[in-house]
Amino acid sequence: MTALAACTPDTRLASPTAAPSPSGPQTPTPTVATTTAVPAPAASQPAPSKAPPSSAPPSGVLSRQFSLNDPASQWVIVNKHRPLAPLQFVPADLVQPRVQLAVSGEASLLNSTTAGAAEKLFAAAASAGVTITLASGYRSFQTQTATYNGYVSTRGQDSADTASARPGFSEHQTGWAFDIGDGGGACSFQPCFAEQPAAVWAKANAYKYGFVVRYPWMLNEITGYYYEPWHLRFIGLEAATDMANRGIGTLEEYFGLEAAPGYL
Ligand code: DAL
Ligand code: ZN
Repeated sequence: MTALAACTPDTRLASPTAAPSPSGPQTPTPTVATTTAVPAPAASQPAPSKAPPSSAPPSGVLSRQFSLNDPASQWVIVNKHRPLAPLQFVPADLVQPRVQLAVSGEASLLNSTTAGAAEKLFAAAASAGVTITLASGYRSFQTQTATYNGYVSTRGQDSADTASARPGFSEHQTGWAFDIGDGGGACSFQPCFAEQPAAVWAKANAYKYGFVVRYPWMLNEITGYYYEPWHLRFIGLEAATDMANRGIGTLEEYFGLEAAPGYL
């Protein structure tokens, strides 16, 4: 069985024998999530390159473009081919959002833009009768090192790499991403979280607040990670809405970047 639980700041929360995912194991079949061409200037499936573009306008309908390389940019793309630069980047504007917290300290922080958007998202969910909690926000390089090493020691490196980013390769280090829970701990960081109201609501509505579910179902050959229905990433309202409208599942496809199933 493939262990799918992932992304926890504390490996005690992640079961190495997690229940199977809702539709069975995710096979390593490359999946293109859309029939609509991604209007990026780069080819939709560019040849592997270690020199990614600094920005790749995904659509003429977007009013602003942002860097894909700068970790302080809301479009920074971090994956197994694209470490943070600098590797030990620390956001300059970490704040604690005014949302229901399931964690304290460093893990309760987000960058200020993401925090503001998160407050709107959490409030909208609450208005819809859905409880969402902040289960894991910012993680320093040092924390990610400990988290990743915990996975490796309990699961081995190959399995760890499907669930936890190596230090310097995690969106959590940017402050642009966070994990959600439902307040009751149901299926926390487990595949069955996908069926919990918090995840169902977030999947349907996160784009309205500028977020994407960063690691969708069955797109692990592109993102490098199995489905994480709890991991939300801020990219801004325009881009998130554009992605949703086009049915594009991954940031790699949206920005015309190569798939990143494994480390180079
Ligand atoms: N679980 C995600 C990939 C992380 O560790 O950042
Ligand atoms: Zn996460």
